[in-house]
Order: sequence, then structure tokens, then C-alpha cells
Amino acid sequence: MKDQAHTLRRIFEGGDSRNYPQVLSVTSGKGGVGKTSIVVNMAILLASKEKKVLVLDADLGLANIDVMLGLTPKYNIQHVLEGQCLLEDIILEGPKGIKIIPASSGIQELADLTPEQKICLMNSLDYFDQDIDYMIIDTGAGISKNVMYFNTAAQRVLVVCTGEPTSITDAYALIKVLRKQYGVKHFDLIVNNVSSKVEGDQVARKLTLVCERFLGDVALEVLGSIPTDMSIPECIKGQKAFVGVHPNSEATVRLERIVNRLEHTSRDADTGNLQFFLRRMFLNQVKGSNHAGHSVSGSY
Ligand SMILES: Nc1ncnc2c1ncn2[C@@H]1O[C@H](COP(=O)(O)OP(=O)(O)OP(=O)(O)O)[C@@H](O)[C@H]1O
Ligand SMILES: [Mg+2]
Repeated sequence: MKDQAHTLRRIFEGGDSRNYPQVLSVTSGKGGVGKTSIVVNMAILLASKEKKVLVLDADLGLANIDVMLGLTPKYNIQHVLEGQCLLEDIILEGPKGIKIIPASSGIQELADLTPEQKICLMNSLDYFDQDIDYMIIDTGAGISKNVMYFNTAAQRVLVVCTGEPTSITDAYALIKVLRKQYGVKHFDLIVNNVSSKVEGDQVARKLTLVCERFLGDVALEVLGSIPTDMSIPECIKGQKAFVGVHPNSEATVRLERIVNRLEHTSRDADTGNLQFFLRRMFLNQVKGSNHAGHSVSGSY
């Protein structure tokens, strides 16, 4: 492993020409809208296109990524922070070679790391940066300090909502907090669990209009929608990814389109890649509460 001074120098000075990975966070205002399913299956689709993908499980909810894929981690990020093992020792390997950091039980502390712990984590993550194209973070729901911590450090914030009015208002509330309190201007939107493409388009339009009207300069890139498909909960019960079990289903095809769109609308490489993420992790003092509630709602 490289020495810490080398890592810090490289992160803060920048200026080398490597192709750094993109860091995406997948987030939502309301819980249970399909983030973890999307993260897992999106990671597998990207890996099927020869991309190297690292998934960070930052979700405090019950549906953790390792459980969804039937993996049993021996250690998690808490053990790394306590110096009991290295990050590479806790990485799990999922379908198509995706790498997973099973962080769920230690993630609460990530927003409050000591400088020494931050250096330890940055140094560990830096170890991977030449070897991955995408890092996808499953943030969990709501506007807790932890969720904000990852959303403000990521290059792209993918907001997931469904057609339920509460999910739409909570998505708006999350975007509003990220815009007004943290200065995030660009968002991507995935509408999940819709009865038709028309419903997906209507939800996206509603959210776009309300953001334009009340937040002005927020840019919302609509990546697409995913239909309701009862084989998705079935696959979760069987601890399998739906894109593997049902490669030709409408849900898989629509998620493939979303992934294509994601690839073809990549953001400015200088802001938000892994180096940027690490820098933000180091410098960020994120405002907000430690409340890890699963729903937010707010007036316009
Ligand atoms: N398109 C879909 N069609 C049918 N069911 C779906 C769809 N997407 C997700 N689900 C189901 O919704 C439930 C919640 O999904 P998931 O755990 O991925 O949501 P989440 O947003 O990660 O939840 P949490 O906020 O608790 O972390 C699961 O039972 C899943 O099978
Ligand atoms: Mg989840």
C-alpha cells in the first residue's frame, strides 16, 4: 500500500492524467423506492459492458446490498476504521466481478470521522482508483447528515422516486435541501415502479416543473423509468439480481437504457471523480442532523 503522504499529495495537488472513476450516489427522499435494487442491477449492467464497478453500501436500511445478493461479509468498514483489517480485505465480489464495500454497520460514523480515520479511508480508497470506472454509493433515504455527506461528495446524484405523491414531494424536498443548503445544482432522475412509460414521463415532468418553478437554476436530467415488475421482489427473495435472472424483461431493458444514458451524459471529469470525492470527504463538515429517518417532506 502507498504511503499516506503520497496519497494526500496526489489528491490535493491533482494534475495527473489518469482516467479517474466517476462517483455516483443513488438517493431518495422517501424510503423503499428501489434504490438498492437499482444500485445492484445497474452495477451488474455496467460490469457486463466491461466497466469495473465498486459499490459502497452506505444504506442504514434493512435491505443491504450483501443480503440482496446472498453474500455474507465477515468484516465491514468498522473493522477497517478500527485498524483491524485493510479495505481490500473486506471487499466482496458480486456477479460479473462487481466489488462491494459492505459498510452498513459502520457507516453511521463516516460523516464524523477523525482526521486520522479519514486519511486511513482515503488511503484505502485511493488504492482502488486505478482499477475502477464507476463507484456507486447506495446512500439510504432521507436528509440525514450521512446521506448528505455522500450526496455532496459524489459527482452525480441520482434521485430515485416512484409515482406516489409522497415519493415525489420527498424527492423535491431532498433536491431542495441539496440545492439550498449544499449548492448542488445538477441531479439525475430515475422514476421507478411505474405502470407505464407515460406515467414515468408524467412524474418526471411534474418534478422538473416544480424544480424549475421553485428552485430556478436546478438541472434535472431524466434518465428514464422502470416499470413495476413483480419478479423484482421475487428475485430479492431469492437473493439474485433481476438483470441476471430476467435479461430480456422490460425492467432490464429499461434499466439498460438508463445505464446507456448515464454513460452518454457524463459530467465534467474534474469535479466529482474519486479524487474530488476523497478531497470532499477530507474537508467536508456536513451540516444537518444525525437523524437517519426514512422519509422527508417539505413545503415548497
Ligand atoms: N420496479 C419495481 N417493481 C416492483 N417492485 C419493486 C420495483 N423496484 C423495487 N421494488 C421492490 O420495492 C422494495 C424496496 O426496494 P429497495 O430495497 O431496492 O428500495 P430502497 O429504496 O433501497 O429501500 P430503503 O430506502 O429501505 O433502502 C423491494 O421489495 C423491491 O423488490
Ligand atoms: Mg436500500
